[in-house]
Amino acid sequence: MNNFVDIKDIDSNQLKKILTFSAELKAERNCISKGTKDFNKHLVNKIVALLFKKPSTRTRFSFEVGIFQMGGQTITVSSNEMQLSNFESMTDTARVLSQYLDMVVIRTDNHADLIDLTKYSNIPIINGLSNKSHPCQVLSDIFTFEEIKGSIKGKRVVWLGDLNNVCNSYIQASEKFNFDLIISAPSEFLSNEIKAILNCQYEMHPEKALKNADLIVTDSWYSMHHTRKERKLRQDILQNYKLTNDLVKISNYNCLVFHCMPIHRNNEIMSDVADNFFEIFLKQAENRLHVQKGIMKWCFS
Ligand code: CP
Ligand code: NVA
Repeated sequence: MNNFVDIKDIDSNQLKKILTFSAELKAERNCISKGTKDFNKHLVNKIVALLFKKPSTRTRFSFEVGIFQMGGQTITVSSNEMQLSNFESMTDTARVLSQYLDMVVIRTDNHADLIDLTKYSNIPIINGLSNKSHPCQVLSDIFTFEEIKGSIKGKRVVWLGDLNNVCNSYIQASEKFNFDLIISAPSEFLSNEIKAILNCQYEMHPEKALKNADLIVTDSWYSMHHTRKERKLRQDILQNYKLTNDLVKISNYNCLVFHCMPIHRNNEIMSDVADNFFEIFLKQAENRLHVQKGIMKWCFS
């Protein structure tokens, strides 16, 4: 049994194994209608809870559909409907949920809750996004990049904008998959916490960072867990990090642009750039389904 909480905790070979499972599971779906179950039903007789403390479109639907295709069953619940929102601790909740369920996928704005859930459960736990990381998204992005361009090893990947949960998972992935990650963000964002984990290059000026880029990744300037004050601050200081066509032109001619969505058009990315790369964003979203199925298969392996 394995937990999927953070990319940094998982050995590179195991991460590659998940990508292999994902590719096999995706290939199996070729020309099959979405509501048909997989030939090999890896989650048969398994019941999985999806706990959401924050809104979600892609994560929620891709997990629900994936678990259905794998022959399992889901219970989806907002944590506001649970005693968690009253006074019950995550440690007690974790012990109780382990009595009913075979696996939990959780989205939370408090990473410590996710760690408690992992520590006090005896079933696999998957991080469906926390305030600190979004490993399902980033592993699935690596799958998407490699599907289109081949190995990501040695490639120049530029993160543009807020140093957020998705960025943290890219930092962790750069070490495991050996790609060059360049972070381009305002220097005000380089807190001691970020500096401690920043094992990659930093370039304040996007024009310099994007030179020879093979992949540009951006995300919303503010995340679901940010307060109104933090959102306003980001909106003000990130204006020079807006992805425009002129910035894209600085990169390699066949450079990809990734956005995990949802998009704030004309904030972090100009609407025309988003339109140019929208097919790629859809591939990223589609691959969430296949890669999360790979993750769930691995969790029970
Ligand atoms: N990218 C992503 O995780 O999207 P949702 O917030 O819609 O799940
Ligand atoms: N950084 C964003 C990602 C949304 C999928 C957030 O946490 O809101």
